[in-house]
Amino acid sequence: MKYLALKVVLCSGLLAAAAASAAAATDGGAKVDLTLHPDANGPVISRHIFGQFAEHLGKGIYEGIWVGPDSPIPNTRGIRNDVVAALKALHVPNVRWPGGCFADEYHWRKGLGPANHRPATINANWGGVTEPNTFGTHEFMDFLDQIGAQAYLSVNVGSGTVEEAADWLEYLTAGPPDALGAERAANGHPAPYQIPFVGIGNESWGCGGAMTPDYYLSQLKIYSRFVRSYDPAHPFKRIAVGSDGGSSDYTETVMKAWQSHVWSWDIDTVSLHYYTVGKWPPSYPATGFSENDYAAILKETRRLEDIIGGQETLMDRYDPQKKIGLAVDEWGTWFTPTPGTHPGFLEQQNSERDAVSAALGLHIFVRHAARVRMANIAQMVNVLQAMILTQGEKMILTPTYHVFQMYVPFQDAASVPVSLDAGEYVQGNIHLPRLDAIAAKDTNGKLWVAVTNIDGSRPATIEIAVEGKRLRAAHGDTLTAPHLDSVNTFDAPHTVQPKAIAARIADGKVVLHIAPASVTVVGLE
Ligand code: AHR
Repeated sequence: MKYLALKVVLCSGLLAAAAASAAAATDGGAKVDLTLHPDANGPVISRHIFGQFAEHLGKGIYEGIWVGPDSPIPNTRGIRNDVVAALKALHVPNVRWPGGCFADEYHWRKGLGPANHRPATINANWGGVTEPNTFGTHEFMDFLDQIGAQAYLSVNVGSGTVEEAADWLEYLTAGPPDALGAERAANGHPAPYQIPFVGIGNESWGCGGAMTPDYYLSQLKIYSRFVRSYDPAHPFKRIAVGSDGGSSDYTETVMKAWQSHVWSWDIDTVSLHYYTVGKWPPSYPATGFSENDYAAILKETRRLEDIIGGQETLMDRYDPQKKIGLAVDEWGTWFTPTPGTHPGFLEQQNSERDAVSAALGLHIFVRHAARVRMANIAQMVNVLQAMILTQGEKMILTPTYHVFQMYVPFQDAASVPVSLDAGEYVQGNIHLPRLDAIAAKDTNGKLWVAVTNIDGSRPATIEIAVEGKRLRAAHGDTLTAPHLDSVNTFDAPHTVQPKAIAARIADGKVVLHIAPASVTVVGLE
């Protein structure tokens, strides 16, 4: 109906023509051309843009990952087996831990030693609940080992000291005869751990201490100097606090100082936090929303393109060679909490809208891959836009999980420019591109394309061509749902899950018919 109404407006009176085309117009009429340009080599898509974020928040760690070795829930050294198996399939490249706001109140020594000797503390940021400290440094590193991911530690700048943070990295990375390295060995891990990423503070403009940019910069220089890797073969990348949702003050201060930095301090990356939230405090529900709210949320996700563009322009001024990366190390949807849950636990359902939003976010990172080298969706299990939801011994995979799994071929692939006449999706007063697409060549030379149909009502027919090549076949999956707010539940866990998509080959091109509000990934031959 909406499409028909739009045609009437556009054709100003050509009602008969609009009506005649209405049947064909269920898919928006004509085919849309999507062309890949594989000879125009794009930047590599770092696998780290598919990173995850796990904070001590609600059921993100306790219940979501850690159930303890004595739990009836099947586990390996306290870490639940079902969650590990699900995450392995995502090829998670890195996990940011222990926060978030929690990181600036975390004291790592409380999470060492026998579980029954660890002090309980209060998680003042997130619901004032007891933090038993049973999931500490060794448990986190064991978890990473089980899922095959790398560590991104966020050190405590807000309420900690530089000595505490320096000791933590010494404990993790030093070998004999270092006393902290010996303590780690005595605690069960003789070999130094590899820590590729260290974040210096979290949201130091907000929950991390409300520091002015200049004050943060002086802290950054000190932490950067003294928090070091004691394993010369494995230095780590230092990630500085940057922008809050596109603001420029932190990024500008840090980049300007970095441009003329002296030998005693350095960074590799600046962060950006951006949530698809609409209004603050979060007021959009995760389910039971209208198509207007569907479009409003996707418009918010699309803002990320301009926000990253703004950060790039700013960083280019001080670093035209792009030595410093941008890490979008918190991103995702943030809705009102699931009714009946603790408001401080940030639990929300995850619908087909989240899947489309996740795909759009990933596409934006890929388009800016020359600068965006890392991203961490918030958060991995049971919190905000989670991959996985658990309830006691039960576990379900969310639509966002399925997107991350479908996009595994893009990890470390070379991006391939595409041309696409995206068209327009109009919902109320919201105008969005109707389609969004990215492509890449994987390390085996195979081409992949991902297409998102943002339009909440109209399917689309896409004709994919590759410049200089006749296509013979295409195989892949599509993620669609009966409704825009369809979710997976513990009673119906498979409502939203990928299905193989039928691709037709015509004259060396691939023709795909994709559903409204869908995410599709195909490999081309
Ligand atoms: O992801 C939830 C919170 O959002 C994080 O702890 C904080 O860094 C951000 O404001």
